[in-house]
Amino acid sequence: MKCRVCRAPAVLDIRRHNAAFCRDHFLKHCAEQVRRSIKDHDMISAGERVVVAVSGGKDSLALWDMLIGLGYDADGLYLGLGIGEYSDASGHTARVFAHERGLKLHEVDLAGEFGYDIPGAAAATHRAPCGACGLSKRHLFNAVAIEHGYDVVATGHNLDDEAAVLLGNVLRWETGYLGRQHPVLPEAPGFARKVKPLYRLGERETAAYCVLRGLDYQVEECPMAEGNRHLGYKDVLNALEDRSAGAKAAFVFGFVDRAHERFTDDAGAEREGLGACVVCRSPTTGDVCAFCRLRERVASRSGPSR
Ligand code: AMP
Ligand code: FES
Ligand code: ZN
Ligand code: ZN
Repeated sequence: MKCRVCRAPAVLDIRRHNAAFCRDHFLKHCAEQVRRSIKDHDMISAGERVVVAVSGGKDSLALWDMLIGLGYDADGLYLGLGIGEYSDASGHTARVFAHERGLKLHEVDLAGEFGYDIPGAAAATHRAPCGACGLSKRHLFNAVAIEHGYDVVATGHNLDDEAAVLLGNVLRWETGYLGRQHPVLPEAPGFARKVKPLYRLGERETAAYCVLRGLDYQVEECPMAEGNRHLGYKDVLNALEDRSAGAKAAFVFGFVDRAHERFTDDAGAEREGLGACVVCRSPTTGDVCAFCRLRERVASRSGPSR
């Protein structure tokens, strides 16, 4: 196996590109995919400030590293979700990464600042933890960006994540979600722009990127996500990819390029006519936003001691 660019021995092959790369050309390939995603979708303009949501995992650390390498002004944001040792270790990894490079990392601790954690929220809502977790993340990524004047929130969603979410949305024809599933969600009053610059890279590639760059990342996945629907979709998509290299990329890129716009009316309507939450001032359709309602619900269940 030889590098497609320089013919030196390759360290990694990417079947869907029908190509192999040496270390340096693989790293360049990754940066080029990210540069291209940013450019094609106008994700970040010159001079804009970016906050990268960093979980301590491979994707978000690779993303932060690449954005800095491409010359962007990018700070980090870590949310302490209170998922036992998993959260302790991921926070530590994110902090070390930032400290070693002299980068700024914002930290928000759910329990310390909002009085609940994800296991508590799951118990109070009698739902899978990922629902409360996703809601808390979306709310706080945006709230921190607005509070600190960032133009853009970048997350580490990769090709595998996007393919799994897309499959889930298509299987249930969630037209509103399909309208909002895009590498860029534009800014709106009360909302920073949301971007996913890694949507062209698979998780095998982001893991290899970290290893080849010597980035120490949290290998363990969230223990509460075990058995959730998305992991099932990922298995199905991996089986498809095994039979037909490039299936995931064709599924996601085809949606982004040719189908997404057919669903934007369904999504757009939901963002219009929003008022401000009476508790936290975030945009919401009702009086109290979903995040504040979740907080209230967990607090009332835990009783007066909290
Ligand atoms: P997940 O929802 O776990 O698939 O993560 C998707 C993206 O959300 C990651 O790539 C990160 O950018 C971000 N993210 C996940 N967990 C955290 C966290 N605890 N703190 C900050 N960002 C996170
Ligand atoms: Fe959200 Fe595990 S990261 S439930
Ligand atoms: Zn090479
Ligand atoms: Zn609120």
